[in-house]
Amino acid sequence: MDVLEAIKDRHATRAFDDKAIDDQNLTAIVTDAQRTPSWGNSQPWEVYIATGKSLEQIKSRYAAAAQAGVTEAADLAKAHRGDFSTMANQNMGHWVGTFRPIIEADQTTYWDSRENLYRAPAIAYLVLGQNPNSWSIYDLGAFSQTLSLAATARGVQSLSSYELVKYPDILRQELAVPTDRTIAMGIALGYEKPDKVLNQFRTDRVATQQILHIQH
Ligand SMILES: Cc1cc2nc3c(=O)[nH]c(=O)nc-3n(C[C@H](O)[C@H](O)[C@H](O)COP(=O)(O)O)c2cc1C
Repeated sequence: MDVLEAIKDRHATRAFDDKAIDDQNLTAIVTDAQRTPSWGNSQPWEVYIATGKSLEQIKSRYAAAAQAGVTEAADLAKAHRGDFSTMANQNMGHWVGTFRPIIEADQTTYWDSRENLYRAPAIAYLVLGQNPNSWSIYDLGAFSQTLSLAATARGVQSLSSYELVKYPDILRQELAVPTDRTIAMGIALGYEKPDKVLNQFRTDRVATQQILHIQH
């Protein structure tokens, strides 16, 4: 698969099959992601992958925490619509409007997925040092996309999701992440359940002319 095909094929996958991803494939995906450029080649990232028993433990502790109403405390604070630009806010409103009927069409799968970390067989946690600067966060965003595209090219689908990092204390304990690290983002990885309407949903984008400004 070439890079343009991977860009088009990658999509938010929210319901995964049980099938495990072998360690060799996980390692290859992270090695590909390491080709991402970064400020001064600083490569500020680390990756902690939860799979097998450690992921089962995280899933059950996340479900218990959510049920008990534990306050979310992601290392990078949760953003709300009002925190975004007017343009971004409008795009989010449009996305919610297009996604809502998909949720309503199969609420059982949607809630089952939400409550079980999408039933992913592996989650890659992207980790930075303490108080990362804006450029390291920028670089990590690029790393995240390279990782997702590499996964797609290797037949693995993905979902970047805030939901995966909302209880960082649980992740620190289960994955032995040192306390001075920032657990910035989680990417669920796995093989998608193709028959689910949740996975068939494709998002659109604003017209390129709306965001591109070429000056001659
Ligand atoms: C930083 C970030 C956080 C996200 N958090 C969530 C989330 O908490 N729950 C969710 O269902 N999707 C989440 N997503 C997925 C986005 O909703 C999705 O990428 C977007 O709607 C575009 O759709 P696409 O990935 O299929 O192109 C997140 C994506 C990013 C990049």
